[in-house]
Amino acid sequence: MTSLLQQAFDPEAFRRQGHVLIDRLADYLQDQLSGTAPQVIPWQEPHVQRDFWQEWLEEPGKQPDFFQTVLDRSIHLHHPRYMGHQVNPPAPIAALAGLVSDLLNNGMAVYEMGMTSTAMEALVVRTVTAAYGWGDEAGGHLTSGGTLANLTALLAARRAKSPGDIWVDGSAEQLALMVSEEAHYCIDRSVRIMGWGSEGIIKVPADAQYRMRTDMLETLLEEETRKGKRIIAVVASACSTSTGSYDDLEVIAAFCRAHDLWMHVDGAHGAAAVFSPQYKHLVKGIEKADSVAMDFHKMLLVPGLATGLFFRERSHSFHTFSPEAVYLFQKAGEEDWYNTAKRTFECTKLMMSLKVFTLLQTYGVALWDEYVTHCYDLGQVFARIIHQHPNWELAAEPQSNIVCFRYLGKGEEELNALNARLRKKLVEEGKFYIVQTVLRGQTWLRVTLVNPGTKEEDLETLLGYLAA
Ligand SMILES: Cc1ncc(COP(=O)(O)O)c(C=O)c1O
Repeated sequence: MTSLLQQAFDPEAFRRQGHVLIDRLADYLQDQLSGTAPQVIPWQEPHVQRDFWQEWLEEPGKQPDFFQTVLDRSIHLHHPRYMGHQVNPPAPIAALAGLVSDLLNNGMAVYEMGMTSTAMEALVVRTVTAAYGWGDEAGGHLTSGGTLANLTALLAARRAKSPGDIWVDGSAEQLALMVSEEAHYCIDRSVRIMGWGSEGIIKVPADAQYRMRTDMLETLLEEETRKGKRIIAVVASACSTSTGSYDDLEVIAAFCRAHDLWMHVDGAHGAAAVFSPQYKHLVKGIEKADSVAMDFHKMLLVPGLATGLFFRERSHSFHTFSPEAVYLFQKAGEEDWYNTAKRTFECTKLMMSLKVFTLLQTYGVALWDEYVTHCYDLGQVFARIIHQHPNWELAAEPQSNIVCFRYLGKGEEELNALNARLRKKLVEEGKFYIVQTVLRGQTWLRVTLVNPGTKEEDLETLLGYLAA
């Protein structure tokens, strides 16, 4: 009789289970990628799902086919008709890297606890910062999600641009930043976490294409400064969440330079365009930013969470969480690049660089070019299809792989209610997965085209299916 601990750590059991699981996952991938799996989402009400799993806890170890059941009851990102939220289907080899990192569980906070992943992280950062057009003085780190990366960037901005030493003395002034009204809600949340309150976020209106109205920046800066606020940063969206619209980074950079403001780019979704020669023009001006946040799990084929926060001058990242003055880090920063916890929110951190590095060493950045270009091309294809159907309209011409559209119906139902009803039915039937958003008071259907297998005919079928 072996103890539970012996069973839990039995290498032979792991080998057996692992072989079975990998075979299952390969079959799963085949079914999903080919689109032969009947459903993208096997929708169930939350309480039904919870009750189902509750039974599994009642007699541990007695239920068969645990992992298969997990697969059967999950949403399938590898299905070509998955077109929902901005999470990419991971490249399978990156998922294998995930298995290795989960077993190793190297915690990374200090170098000894993550030697391999620390070195890989530095090399991943260098690959990305070079793509942004930055030199040797650039740097950054990986962190757990775009939300945390944006907050960390804003803490760095606050440290660099607020008067005195905010880390030590706090601030008596009302600090504030400017950001498009279309920005992801995590920017608003970050401002409030920093204690700036609702006065700390100045929302710049967006134009008809949902891009920041940069022509309003000067006036807003003047007005808000007159009210006694100290504006220290502008956050550009590249691209925005709802419509995938890119703010004009060149113009924002010139504005920041003229007023000595920190420029942060929230490129959680769209900074990946830098890897596509065809779509790189969308992030022109990124090289002038002070910091950029970019998710590898949205548009770069890595399993979540894996986000990069990049600084044009890496000393800022050493300064963010430190009581020391920035000049002390000019030198020490270079020497101490390998103890990442000094620069991150996290203490223990996942070996996320392993997943990114695995893709880079297997395929190079050419994979990211192919993927981003394919997805952004699909956005254009879908827009063309919608233009050809008189009963459908676009919220805006897509700039990326995010497309907002709606059905105009046959006049018998109010449009917001009609489109919300169509989406609900679609999710419950499970043959496609798309989402919805509200833009200027109107409900729109929304797709993020992230699947390498999605074809023009899937998009045609989607419209037919919705309108049936
Ligand atoms: C523009 C933008 N920023 C930030 C985020 C948040 O990223 P994460 O989900 O990795 O925290 C998102 C998520 O959709 C986003 O679209």
